[in-house]
Order: sequence, then C-alpha cells, then structure tokens
Amino acid sequence: MKRRGFLKLSAGAGIATGIGAGALIIGRAQATATGGQPLPLPPVLDLDAGGGALIEARAGRHAFYEGGAKGATLGYSLDYLGPVLRARRGTSARITLGNRHSDPITSHWHGLHVPGHLDGGPQSFVTPGGTLEQELEIDQPAGTYWYHTHTHHQTAEQAYMGLASFFLIEDPDAPDPGLPSELGVDDLPLAIQDKSFTRNGEIQYSSGGMAMMNGVKGEGIVVNGALRPVATVPGGLVRLRLLNGSNARIYHLFFEDGRGFHQVASEGGLLMAPVALNRLTLAPGERAEIVVDFAKGATRLLSANDNNAMMGGMMGGFMSSVMGGDDPDYVRGAEGFEILSFQIDPDRKPARTTLPRSFAGAPSGDLPEPVTRRRISLEMMGGMMGGGGGMMGGMMGGGGGDAAGPFSINGRPFDPNRIDVEARLNTTELWEIVTDGMAHPFHVHGTSFKVLSVDGQTKDFATTGFKDTVLVQQRAEILVPFNRPAGRDAPFMFHCHILEHEDNGMMGQMTVA
Ligand code: C2O
Ligand code: CU
Ligand code: CU
Repeated sequence: MKRRGFLKLSAGAGIATGIGAGALIIGRAQATATGGQPLPLPPVLDLDAGGGALIEARAGRHAFYEGGAKGATLGYSLDYLGPVLRARRGTSARITLGNRHSDPITSHWHGLHVPGHLDGGPQSFVTPGGTLEQELEIDQPAGTYWYHTHTHHQTAEQAYMGLASFFLIEDPDAPDPGLPSELGVDDLPLAIQDKSFTRNGEIQYSSGGMAMMNGVKGEGIVVNGALRPVATVPGGLVRLRLLNGSNARIYHLFFEDGRGFHQVASEGGLLMAPVALNRLTLAPGERAEIVVDFAKGATRLLSANDNNAMMGGMMGGFMSSVMGGDDPDYVRGAEGFEILSFQIDPDRKPARTTLPRSFAGAPSGDLPEPVTRRRISLEMMGGMMGGGGGMMGGMMGGGGGDAAGPFSINGRPFDPNRIDVEARLNTTELWEIVTDGMAHPFHVHGTSFKVLSVDGQTKDFATTGFKDTVLVQQRAEILVPFNRPAGRDAPFMFHCHILEHEDNGMMGQMTVA
C-alpha cells in the first residue's frame, strides 16, 4: 500500500518539477517547429466480418514525435491505442479480449448499451495470459463511442500508457445523414490526449500529491498517438470525431482563424440538427462530432487554456502556485495551444460541400417520467475539511486505506463490495449531481442520459443530444434511463472521468434489475 504523507507530497512536487524540465524540451519544440508527422489513424476493424475479433492488451514501444526515441507503451493489439472498432446496429459483435500484459486489464465499452456482465468494468478483469469472450448485441444509435481499460486502481495509468481507442457504431437502417463519412479521408476520429515524456522518450506518469488531486496532465498534446500531427484533408466539409481521451485535461477547442463550425453529434449519436459553434468544451470521456469547412483553406485546431479554473474554484491560485500548478509553459499561452494542424489536398475532390439542415435519423429525446430522484455528491473537500480519512487526513496522516483514496461519492469512497444504487430495469431516474466546486466530468455506464441543466443553465436537448459524460462545476440534473440489466456480480459504475479521481474513490456501483 502506498503511504501518503505531507512530506511525500512536497517530494512529489519536486519530482514533478524535474520532469517538467525534461518535458519542456518537447514543449518548446512543439511551440516553435511544426508538429511533424502526418496524422495517424489506427487500423479499422469491422466487427461484423463474421469470425469475430481478437484484441490483446500488450506492451509496446512507440515514438510520439518524428525523430523521437521510442518509449514503453501499452495498446490493444497495437503498440499504442487499439484498432478503431466498427460495428453495425442490429448485429452482434464477437470480441475476444486477450491479455499479454503483466497486470490485469479490462476493456470497458464506454457509451455502449450492454448488460453489466459485458460492460468491461473492474469486475470483468482479464488476468495476464487470460482471455475473455464477449458477444455484444449492438442496438443503439450510430455514433462515436470508445473503449478503454478499467482495472481497479490502475485505470488512470493504464489508459495514460495507451489502453484506449474508438468504438464506432453505424446504423444501416437509419436515414443517411448526408455527412462526410470516408474514414481517414473526410471523416477523422481524433483521440486527443496529453502526455509528459522524459528526455529519452519514455512516458512519464506521475500521480503523487497534487497530480492526483487535480488529475494527471501532460505537457505534450498527442492526437492518435502523434504529437501535434498534420492532417491532410479535402477542401470541403470534413467531419472530426473528437474524443477527449485525456486523464484530466479539459479542452476548449477553437480554430486559429476563428472560423465557425457545426456540431452534428454528441456522445449518444446525431443531434436533431447541426449546431453552429465557435468554441467547444470537451472534458475527459466526452465526445463530439463536428463538421468543418476546409473550402476556407487550411488552419489549426487550438485549445484555450483555463484549466486552472478547476483549482481556482476551490482555493484560488494559492495552492496551485505553492504546489507548482498543473500547467506547463507550453499550455499557458494566452492564445491557446495547438492540438493539430490541417493542410488541404488540392487533388482530392470533396465529397460534401453543404451541410443538411436537420438529421431525420437523430434519436428523439423522449423518456418516461422519472420514478425516483437521487442526489449524487462528488467530493474531495468533505474529507479535506472534516479530517478523518479524507484528503488532508490522508495526506498528513498517511492513512486512507486501500480502497479509500481521498475522493468519495455521498461520503463514501468506492468499495467493490458495496452496491450504491439499485435501479429498476426499464425505468428512468432523475439524478442531481452536485460537486464541491471543482469541475468533475460525471459518467454513467450502460446508458445514455439527457441533460436537463448544468450549473444553473437549462439545457436544450436539441443542442446537447444524449450524453454519457457531463462536466459539472457545481450542480447538474440529468434524466437517466435504465434499459440494460446489471447484477451484483458485475454492476455498472458511475464515476468522475478524471481517471485519478475515479481510481482514488470517486466511483459508485449500480445494479439494474
Ligand atoms: Cu470511460 Cu467507467 O468509463
Ligand atoms: Cu463508461
Ligand atoms: Cu473528479
């Protein structure tokens, strides 16, 4: 068991500074030179091909930038990340998950409406050398979903090392939405992650003290495993399937030349109509599909930086500055930092030049009346102020216990032997999510929900669509339908998607029967 003391925390901050110095070399290179290599796209694996698919978690070696040294990574059948899995609604996807890594792993199908025993949560781990056969009935709207490891206490580090990728669902029976859809050409899945590296190219994952409190943020931005890549696109409409696959960093995305774009889908599939935007906030776990018009020429996708808001809300800049803060120079710039850049291929004729006005096949927001109202409180401050086994108690006293990190939900840190919520199958519940003032992306397994309000603002289903992860700074209300069963042996999780918070106790378990 890890001992957490206050001394350990300062030592951790010192180490973090050391890492910062090494990683800054990459940061500077990023800020000046072009990112370099072309945008990679993991191979696409069609799951309805008949025989089923085998994906194996394994160790790999991968260079994140051109000319860079290879460092140790993890992937599903790849050195880093995993294949883009693609399934069609109405079919069943047979997947064998193997584990050639030295620790237990899982593959959680984030956003998929599958029963608890197929959900890939912490209970469904695969031991080294083992395999797990699964058959997933695909019955939900077309959309951009994803998969990632969910091992008890190890999700954050394993995902940071690479155990994640896309899970795309298509619906052949739904009306054609008229969107760019040639994967790798005008339809680009973009897994956005941040990572720190040592001088010799090794991924640096450091989760002590403040890093655990704020979540681990890296200094380099990688897209599909490449540091600041360049995507070559046709000079027309291009669909970007954005996934925030970072452990903790929140992005506020915009284009360098200020051009507007349209959001066409959120986590649960198509919106009813395209929504015009200039900026899009994407928290860990969230996805959004946007359509950008490259008839306007090349540009860069940037993110504004206000990640300090997370700490700011809690105790001002004081702790951040004392502890060294969370953000390196590279991402502190006022104008924002680069995610990736685009260049136009003049020889490729765009397949789409106009956007439809609406999407006939979009899921309707109709849900039955809620049968229960529940309050879900995401906490780190409760323990911090109250002492005991909480945040400061844990740091100062070295206590905290094995399962109990400093984080909790409704006063109780995650316990794999406790069921926190018992929901009834085929009902809907109204959940009120409240926080301690720090922004937490709240996620529920096995369903997609409707967001009613966030931080005092009423949300319109037409602009949000169905979601499975929602960023809550203070308080949100969501309507959650329960249409897939989950028993006590493999309950659904609900948790904060800052993975260090999840691993350290901000997670609960739910049965649906
Ligand atoms: Cu994306 Cu419980 O996870
Ligand atoms: Cu999930
Ligand atoms: Cu959190």
